[in-house]
Amino acid sequence: MATKIRKYVLRSHFSGFPQRDALEIVEEELPPIKDGEFLCEAQWISVDPYMRPYTSRLPLGITMIGTQVAKVVESKNDKYSPGDLVSSNFGWVTHTISDGVQQWGGKQGPVLKLDPAIHSSPSTALGVLGMPGATSYFGFLEICQPKKGETLVVNGGAGAVGSLVGQIAKLKGCRVVGFAGSDAKVKYMLDLGFDAAYNYKTVESLDAAIKESCPNGVDLFFDNVGGEFFEVTLSNMNEFGRVSVCGAISLYNATEKPKFRSVSEIILFKQLKVEGFIVARWLDQWPKAFKEISEWIKEGKVKYDEHVTEGFDNMFDAFAGLFTGDNTGKAIVKI
Ligand SMILES: NC(=O)c1ccc[n+]([C@@H]2O[C@H](COP(=O)([O-])OP(=O)(O)OC[C@H]3O[C@@H](n4cnc5c(N)ncnc54)[C@H](OP(=O)(O)O)[C@@H]3O)[C@@H](O)[C@H]2O)c1
Repeated sequence: MATKIRKYVLRSHFSGFPQRDALEIVEEELPPIKDGEFLCEAQWISVDPYMRPYTSRLPLGITMIGTQVAKVVESKNDKYSPGDLVSSNFGWVTHTISDGVQQWGGKQGPVLKLDPAIHSSPSTALGVLGMPGATSYFGFLEICQPKKGETLVVNGGAGAVGSLVGQIAKLKGCRVVGFAGSDAKVKYMLDLGFDAAYNYKTVESLDAAIKESCPNGVDLFFDNVGGEFFEVTLSNMNEFGRVSVCGAISLYNATEKPKFRSVSEIILFKQLKVEGFIVARWLDQWPKAFKEISEWIKEGKVKYDEHVTEGFDNMFDAFAGLFTGDNTGKAIVKI
């Protein structure tokens, strides 16, 4: 039987702050499934900052990209049964026919079946126990190589990635200083156990805030924001510091290229290790991260929050809210 679906199609590339009419909701019919295939119905869809820069490189007419948690409703594939919950890059679409294979950052992998022992709440597969969780885990532990007593600065500190980075750093014995965009988020970071937290929108000077909260300098920097924040934090780093360049959300909507300003002298004379990464680098190791993070959650050592928007029709608002700071914790849409 044919299935009616709804999906968001990319009609134009975003220019500056994301425009609603760059995406159009289109209705379609899916054909019956064939041998080896299964039909999924979306339960939760993720909105993530990377969608903004990535879509500018993608052809118009594609289904908007993104990960979802979906329920298998019909199957002619031995590995997936009706009722199974899966996580995959199906995009902003209500239903999908899959053959069990998905692409991740140029790598191929299976459509993941959720493990109830790990994902006791299915939506976590899009956040703390999904791609953002793996980003925090590997991006911080592998690149910053934290040592007890070191000081970390993390921005985007109340978001999906940054809030977990700060908590992992605390578990590793670091002093953690977080930055985010509201006083409520400052309280949230302090409640999570950060040693100091600032509202970057109201501090008189980022440089003074870092100097005040990091009297012994910055050893580790996990950057979600980029731009001015990157420059200012770098100049406060100690020799042999490590910098994990995770994201640059302050630049994603920029319409003008910033004037060139060299940071190479700071990196050189302080002998910093600065490394950018895409989390798919560790794709085959993600289950290891999810196991350890889920244990930390069960033991009460890690807390997470989700910012839930209701309804497929409100996907754009949830996405745009990432750039106005609407979310504390992981932004997700309940379909
Ligand atoms: N390298 C990778 O593989 C990888 C993987 C996942 C995510 N990332 C990156 O990690 C970063 C965080 O992602 P996430 O999923 O955890 O998102 P998130 O932090 O949950 O949500 C985005 C947050 O960014 C902040 N923000 C928006 N515009 C800003 C600006 N101009 N300056 C400073 N902060 C701004 C907002 O919080 P405020 O209220 O604090 O402004 C907003 O809530 C993003 O840069 C993303 O691209 C990278």
